[in-house]
Amino acid sequence: MIYRWKRCLVLSITFIFTLILSIALSASLNRGLSASTSNHAYVWDIPPWAPKPIVPADNPMTAEKVELGRHLFYEKRLSINNQFSCASCHIQAIAFTDGKPVAIGATGESHPRNSMSLANIGYNSVLTWANPGMTKLEFQALIPMFGEHPVEMGLAGKEQEVLKMLREDQKYQKLFAAAFGEGESSININNITKAIASFQRSLISFNSPYDRYRYGGEKNAISAAAKRGEALFHSERLECFHCHGGLNFSDSIKHERLAFEEIAFHNTGLYNVDGKGSYPSNNTGIYEFTHKPEDMGKFKAPTLRNIALTAPYMHDGSIATLAEAIDHYQAGGRTITQGKFAGVGSQNPFKSNFISGFSLSPPEKQDLIEFLKTLTDEKFIANPAFSDPNVVNAGKTGS
Ligand code: HEC
Ligand code: HEC
Repeated sequence: MIYRWKRCLVLSITFIFTLILSIALSASLNRGLSASTSNHAYVWDIPPWAPKPIVPADNPMTAEKVELGRHLFYEKRLSINNQFSCASCHIQAIAFTDGKPVAIGATGESHPRNSMSLANIGYNSVLTWANPGMTKLEFQALIPMFGEHPVEMGLAGKEQEVLKMLREDQKYQKLFAAAFGEGESSININNITKAIASFQRSLISFNSPYDRYRYGGEKNAISAAAKRGEALFHSERLECFHCHGGLNFSDSIKHERLAFEEIAFHNTGLYNVDGKGSYPSNNTGIYEFTHKPEDMGKFKAPTLRNIALTAPYMHDGSIATLAEAIDHYQAGGRTITQGKFAGVGSQNPFKSNFISGFSLSPPEKQDLIEFLKTLTDEKFIANPAFSDPNVVNAGKTGS
């Protein structure tokens, strides 16, 4: 009898204990659930024919991160003089370039290179003009913020000030909490770069007339001249497609439907300053990193999407117009007759075999330009989701 009573007590204690445990467990589970459901999976604005960008496992896309990233991308207090944001050099109205030959940083210092478009940046297997090791958006964002050679936003040594500014700002308290969870510690440099990278991956441009024609089945979305230009672009005579081929008009590309990511750099014969193939000393291409003689002047073939908006052209902005860019290829390399960079680019020994020059009549040249113009995506440059969140109707004005 005593034994049974004891057993009963043990059983009921066990029961109560299990009950408490399960209530506590379900409460904590609920909290976990609500934390994760408050983060909304990001819905890609991508047409069905296009593959999605590859997103790193440690930084999945969420609507909250993209929104925070957008605010940070346009945040001028992320610079030494509170006047520079990413958007100072990456202006939406001109496909996230800046219209200058070379970029000018917050301190007025010139960058050796031209600001690049961020259209479809999530598809780029390698970032910037010529750095084979720069493959992650999360890492790349640190360079403009904290880099000192050259200074872009000038935040080196100011990490704690930046974090203090963000932690004291109610808007950022809310945005960081929604994207990364409550608490000051979620406002850190790592999460800043994750959010900016997520926003950049959302910058999708697949709405050009050419996309509607080629992939959307709209037979008349581009003119007859542009169709002739498209054929020239893809011809063995002009060879453009070898380096600017595929979905993003670049042979450095990755996405979910490619088994391997592609990375390539080419010397197009833009310079030959010493007759032995040298480029100007501040822009030697991937030679700067590899120090292999044959890598002199090798740069990434950038996307040609929105190319009519992104002049001036090339890594140093040294070509002003599309017509001039075609002249350069037509001659199989650029000849500079005077000044410190004088030289015959077509004789550059490191030049790609695909740059051998070709004949092109003036009407054909015009057709090619008409084709390049069909790569302009008006929806992309006016998309409110990509605009400055602090400005109403910011789409067309940039920052
Ligand atoms: C002072 C102007 C300037 C500012 C400010 C700036 N950028 Fe850039 N950006 C450039 C230049 C110039 C390049 C090319 C750099 C190179 O090749 O070395 C570039 C390249 C890039 C690229 C590589 C694009 C490609 O096609 O490979 C990304 C991504 C990028 N910037 C993102 C950002 C982000 C994010 C910020 C803000 C945190 C930012 N930039 C701020 C000028 C700027
Ligand atoms: C061998 C590969 C290759 C071929 C072929 C090629 N390009 Fe390029 N293209 C590049 C590279 C690399 C760059 C950047 C070069 C630099 O800045 O030094 C570039 C840059 C450009 C730019 C400037 C892009 C910008 O954002 O500044 C345009 C426009 C262009 N190419 C159009 C063409 C056209 C049109 C053809 C065909 C006639 C062509 N390319 C053929 C590799 C190539």
